[in-house]
Amino acid sequence: MQKKSTYDRRGFLLGSTAIAGATAAGALLPTGTALAQQGKLKVGLMLPYTGTFAQLGVAITNGFKLAIEERGGKLGGREIEYFTVDDESNPAKAPENVNKLVQRDKVDVVIGTVHSGVVMGMAKVLKESGTLWINPNGGAGAMTGAACAPNFFRTSFSNWQTTHALGKVLKAKGHKNAVFITWKYAAGEEMMGGFKEGFEKEGGKLTKELYVPFPQVEFQALLTEIASIKPDAVVAFFAGGGAAKFLKDYQAAGLKGKIPLYGSGFLTDGVLEAVGDAGEGVETTLHYADGLDTKKDKAFRLAYAKTFKLQPDVYAVQGYDAGQLLAAGLDGVKGNVANKVGVIKAMEAAKIDSPRGPWTLSKAHNPVQDMYLRKVVGKENKVQGVAWKALADPARGCKA
Ligand code: PHB
Repeated sequence: MQKKSTYDRRGFLLGSTAIAGATAAGALLPTGTALAQQGKLKVGLMLPYTGTFAQLGVAITNGFKLAIEERGGKLGGREIEYFTVDDESNPAKAPENVNKLVQRDKVDVVIGTVHSGVVMGMAKVLKESGTLWINPNGGAGAMTGAACAPNFFRTSFSNWQTTHALGKVLKAKGHKNAVFITWKYAAGEEMMGGFKEGFEKEGGKLTKELYVPFPQVEFQALLTEIASIKPDAVVAFFAGGGAAKFLKDYQAAGLKGKIPLYGSGFLTDGVLEAVGDAGEGVETTLHYADGLDTKKDKAFRLAYAKTFKLQPDVYAVQGYDAGQLLAAGLDGVKGNVANKVGVIKAMEAAKIDSPRGPWTLSKAHNPVQDMYLRKVVGKENKVQGVAWKALADPARGCKA
């Protein structure tokens, strides 16, 4: 039997704990409830720790934990207990995996994940349960679009956002046509769509869409096709291990230096150590870059390198900001996470002082943020300027 659900004034499912939260400030709390509120905050991490996105999951986890450690290991006065699930970037297992955190572990908040298909599998379960959810990567448009909900928050990007500014960039370079190459799944298709819309607005033409199944990395046949099409430019989305392989194959196929390569910044983030000079000169757009030279970014990079003996990347920043956003929510209710409406309001109002630059949330709970133009110079994605100031996802279909 299902419990009767609670909805806020906009008709969103809030879950039964919201009611408990509304009375939690009262003086007549049973002792058990009062004690429970002082217990540890249960944080569920659902991320890829194996497969092509494994490094991304680790960077997000590191960033998140760094933000918590900077607050003395506590949020809203409460210590943290972590529960971890490896989602393997497998959409088919997403409902079962997120239910391990929601039903078995009874976490207060879910942090996850990287892969857009897994994000959508999580969305079904988390809309029904009303569990607080902060997504530190996966850009599926629907999460903050048609499937938006008051308990859904994202500290990363929508797929659309990451490529939309590239249209202007290509136009400025005088490119009139381009080919887009990516994995065949939501993230690739939506990044292709964001680019196409932006490029066509500038009078450009997307002449071909090329796809490989996720997570395959057999690019040879498509690189041969690109060589025969001879477009003005190639635009790509791959990430993690797949991005490193693509950059190397592009060079090995003799295309580097002949047909300029662009992408959403995932193509070159976190992979430059692995690809030698195959990334050199590649220009991308993203909400983070090397060389931003702000106080916050410098402090973050120093702390991250010291703690993990690694250089941070965009994924680490997104994880860090998930910790910062959750901190804002918990501070707003002094640790009383049962007051879900209060947590949501505090997170909605948060101004995140991020290593990427300050950002706020849109009405649909997606960051409104600057998109940088970056260029690979040595082992860095050097900032070239802001390609689009305060870019907001259009949140198509979100009725919030
Ligand atoms: C996604 O599936 O949404 C995704 C995965 C990896 C990235 C970016 C987006 O680097």
